[in-house]
Amino acid sequence: MASSSGHKTLTVGFAQIGAESAWRTAETNSITDTAKKEGINLKFVDAQQQQANQIAAIRSFIAEKVDGIILAPVVATGWDQVLGEAKAAGIPVILVDRSIDASPSLYTTVIVGDYVYQGKADAEYLAKALDGKGNVVELEGTPGSSPQIDRKKGFADYMKAYPDIHIVYDQTGNFTRSGGLQVMEAAIKAVGASNINAVYAQNDDMALGAIQAMQAAGMQPGTTVKVVGIDAVHDALQAIINGTMNFTIQTDLIMGPPAFKAIREALAGVKLPKWIKADQPEFTIANAAAALPTRAY
Ligand code: AHR
Repeated sequence: MASSSGHKTLTVGFAQIGAESAWRTAETNSITDTAKKEGINLKFVDAQQQQANQIAAIRSFIAEKVDGIILAPVVATGWDQVLGEAKAAGIPVILVDRSIDASPSLYTTVIVGDYVYQGKADAEYLAKALDGKGNVVELEGTPGSSPQIDRKKGFADYMKAYPDIHIVYDQTGNFTRSGGLQVMEAAIKAVGASNINAVYAQNDDMALGAIQAMQAAGMQPGTTVKVVGIDAVHDALQAIINGTMNFTIQTDLIMGPPAFKAIREALAGVKLPKWIKADQPEFTIANAAAALPTRAY
């Protein structure tokens, strides 16, 4: 049967991580809206940050004989068994926004940016802004997730050339705004407001939470304390325009069109590249205002 868009009606299972950030909710919308537009029968599962729930969802998609599976893997390891089952059933699996630590033969492709590069871009901005010395608070994402691992590595590797820049407090805020706020409050208590020169947040939501905590403590994020994030969500660009944040780099979330296209191509026998790399422009006060009006998220 064909949908109104002329495509064969597909049934696709989508195992989403949850709704930890504004970014994640916008990604969910991209996939559900595209499914509606393309007449795709989408089976959506919100896994509430639990890998076990994603594995159970994938098994139920296999039992329901879906045409394809979209998976945003919450953590990088522990996928071999269930993805082996999907492979044995002949169901293409498209990974979105996070990569996994498993044989590439277990999935069709992964649509994701270069998260090591994102961490490096934040480090490069801070090393310059701090003139090579200062104390940094690091807010990490979900432990064991590919963005947490890769962004940490990209930042740390770049900072090896700057021995006078020190990470003075480092905790996970789980990619949430409330986590960023709480960790920043704890950092201010532990290190002292006057000893913090910068915040490196592995996503914008945590940066925005940290900004709130710093403002409540009478600090001046964006001026005396440099703040860098990742994602380039609407509120972060607004914070850059307001002068409370300094830098962010995009994490693409318009996953609906490329993910369904990849499923169709895989079903048609097209051999896809294992990594479909998403664009990641960078934003500072120089270009945030021009970008905001046309920003999709
Ligand atoms: O996997 C992508 C990351 O997950 C985004 O950077 C973050 O905001 C989200 O929750």
